[in-house]
Amino acid sequence: MQVLISYHSDYGNTRRMAEAIAAGFRVADASARVELKLVEMTGLDDLTGADVIILGTPVHMGSMAWPVKKLIDETAKLWMEGPLEGKIGGVFATGGGFGGAGGGVEQTLVSLHSNFLEHGMIVVGFPKSLPGYADGGLQWGPCGRSGNHEGMPAALSDGSLTAARSYGAHVAEMAKRLMD
Ligand SMILES: Cc1cc2nc3c(=O)[nH]c(=O)nc-3n(C[C@H](O)[C@H](O)[C@H](O)COP(=O)(O)O)c2cc1C
Repeated sequence: MQVLISYHSDYGNTRRMAEAIAAGFRVADASARVELKLVEMTGLDDLTGADVIILGTPVHMGSMAWPVKKLIDETAKLWMEGPLEGKIGGVFATGGGFGGAGGGVEQTLVSLHSNFLEHGMIVVGFPKSLPGYADGGLQWGPCGRSGNHEGMPAALSDGSLTAARSYGAHVAEMAKRLMD
């Protein structure tokens, strides 16, 4: 199974989530080839060559960071032929989260889902029974908060990284089931 975890990260938070997802995936499926790649280095061939595509972004102004959107828009070239159809997709995000209701992480995850569904992919959500969900989970995927209540940078919580690891393992389990 070829797994691509592609992400954008300016300050390392989204990268840490990506690494935790990769670690969880590898634990659940030791034979999977899991590749971590910056979205800036991700080409259409990487997407078409993967069985599982997990895409991560920081929240920028309430939505995905532009390098992620750039890749998404480039995939429009694939839309007519449909080579991503039936591939398994997952998403994750980090945000500073300033303000009681957060800073747009939910709509960022949901909009990535719609991009995947546009291609006919199978999107794997994040069930609430999994470890880390209470701290770093949303039904759409794991998320991390990298800002404190004063709006200053803060380390991602252990719970968020646990959520990322358990999401990686969950996507692996779902992919194995779907690809059998
Ligand atoms: C240009 C810019 C816009 C941002 N906009 C938001 C936002 O709308 N909501 C939010 O929660 N965080 C926002 N943030 C904070 C980042 O999402 C957050 O720090 C994230 O964890 C950074 O991830 P990274 O370390 O992988 O770059 C913004 C950061 C930048 C640089």
